[in-house]
Amino acid sequence: MKIFVDTAQINEIQETNSWGILDGVTTNPSLIKKAVESRENVDIKDYIGQICETVDGPISLEVIGLTAEKMVDQAERLYDTFNHINNNVVIKIPVNTKHPDSPGDDYEGLKAIRSLATKGIPTNTTLVMKPEQALLAAKAGTQYVSPFAGRIDDFIRNNIGLTRGKDFEKGAYQHSDWLQHSSYLHLKPHYEDLEGNELDDIYTDKGVNETMAKVTDDGIPSGAAAVASIKQIFEIYNLDTQVLAASLRNSRQVREVAEAGADVATIPFKVLNEMMNHYKTQEGIISFSQDVVPEYRELFD
Ligand code: E4P
Repeated sequence: MKIFVDTAQINEIQETNSWGILDGVTTNPSLIKKAVESRENVDIKDYIGQICETVDGPISLEVIGLTAEKMVDQAERLYDTFNHINNNVVIKIPVNTKHPDSPGDDYEGLKAIRSLATKGIPTNTTLVMKPEQALLAAKAGTQYVSPFAGRIDDFIRNNIGLTRGKDFEKGAYQHSDWLQHSSYLHLKPHYEDLEGNELDDIYTDKGVNETMAKVTDDGIPSGAAAVASIKQIFEIYNLDTQVLAASLRNSRQVREVAEAGADVATIPFKVLNEMMNHYKTQEGIISFSQDVVPEYRELFD
């Protein structure tokens, strides 16, 4: 599994690169905002150029337009400005840019991916929340799909999951088979109809409840399970789009997407640190350090 770092902080990129584990970088407008706001007078062209120069691997830069036309234009501008530096720019295109106030339809993302594929500009399809979106993006010619594991978990926890109605930490782990897990069996998923009325179950003797359910887990019990499903579909149909597990919030989630065969995991700096830490490792190093006898220490003097 390749490892990308999920940050726009140049110091974090340089540091992870120095460990010899780094294969690429993913950014998004929120990560760029954090980087810009934590520095003074950032020259954004120089700054992004420095990121591209630092890592010999794909650097994802995201467009901000909401129509295919705008996204393609912005993708070309990003590509022209930065790709010559280290030949490593990949353009992030949201799978679907539709929201109540946005122009265009549900297919602007697909149209942009297709158009960029024909121009030879590589894309990373972002904001993927279900395998069906990933399948269509792969068919349209994207190089990477980014399922947002952490945000899928947020959705499940907020709407139907174990922590519904309760606060949970952003980095909290969501069990990938909580629906099946014996200790969770007494807890039922939460379903609502389109008016927000509680439903006992969306399934009846005749099949799915006649009132369409608005909130379901859609058969995806966790973000890591979504990654596994996408990987499986791509393998069955020999699609060469890479599965880039994104929005990873804790170390166990990284393990699960690795077990699922994710081609890439993009990992925040904080989670990389969590991956390296274990209480017993620390306890062990303390006792080894205390047990060093002078005879052995002499070897190193
Ligand atoms: C990276 O490609 C994504 O933009 C990022 O992983 C999103 O992470 P978040 O859901 O923690 O903001």
